[in-house]
Amino acid sequence: MFSKTNKSDAQMSSETVKLDENIPNHIAIIMDGNGRWAQKRHLPRVAGHRQGMDTVKKITISASHLGVKVLTLYAFSTENWKRPSGEVSFLMHLPGDFFDTFVPDLIKHNVRVNVMGYIDQLPDYTQAAVKKAIKDTEKCTGMVLNFALNYGGRSELVTAIQKIAQKVSNDQLRPEDIDETTVDSELMTASLTPYSDPDLLIRTSGEERISNFLLWQIAYSELVFTDVLWPDFTDASLKDCIYQYQQRNRRFGGLK
Ligand code: FPP
Repeated sequence: MFSKTNKSDAQMSSETVKLDENIPNHIAIIMDGNGRWAQKRHLPRVAGHRQGMDTVKKITISASHLGVKVLTLYAFSTENWKRPSGEVSFLMHLPGDFFDTFVPDLIKHNVRVNVMGYIDQLPDYTQAAVKKAIKDTEKCTGMVLNFALNYGGRSELVTAIQKIAQKVSNDQLRPEDIDETTVDSELMTASLTPYSDPDLLIRTSGEERISNFLLWQIAYSELVFTDVLWPDFTDASLKDCIYQYQQRNRRFGGLK
């Protein structure tokens, strides 16, 4: 089901969102609108990304307080390499800036960092930053903050198909035994089981498309699109989206 939040929803939801029940276990966010946020202020686009990083910090803490189990953030797609080299370089330095300043807070809030994507194709300094953050937070048992970094849903599926084909070719697997669990177990979200599929997918900035994000995993996710630009997204915006989710009747193809 699709929905777009608006001001009246926002006003209503901040009063009525149920914070103690039916909180989505896994929330995935397409963080869009950084560039437009900056342009509106006559700032370079990267200023929007920097502000967007601060929003990541706030929303991570909000989601953790709400009892979300997994927060997946689309930070860099396999298609984002097409952007100007200066912007790509800025984005590649953001994980380092983010983790350098924020890992103590993550540990304080018991948040564990996970990263999914083609990490080995990232610059060495980006790889080092994410590996250190994963290591530094490995003992945290609360929410998983899962960054999609150099991630693409189609590439992920191609890689999974290659791995499955290899197992068939090695006589480790029979084609007739391939089922949805086989595919799940080869995807980059396998380690998030039982929360590998998002319950709620949010996209900010008014765009209403999926942009190659979690194509398999969102089969039954509830989708919420909001006009708020990512740098302006707040704890109240998150609650508005959860309120939308709580109004949905999830049937998973059956009847209720
Ligand atoms: C899309 O907005 C946003 C991105 C491609 C980058 C998202 C990155 C962040 C929010 C910061 C990530 C932080 C960490 C810690 C890695 P856009 O640039 O496409 O915006 P536009 O559509 O308005 O141009």
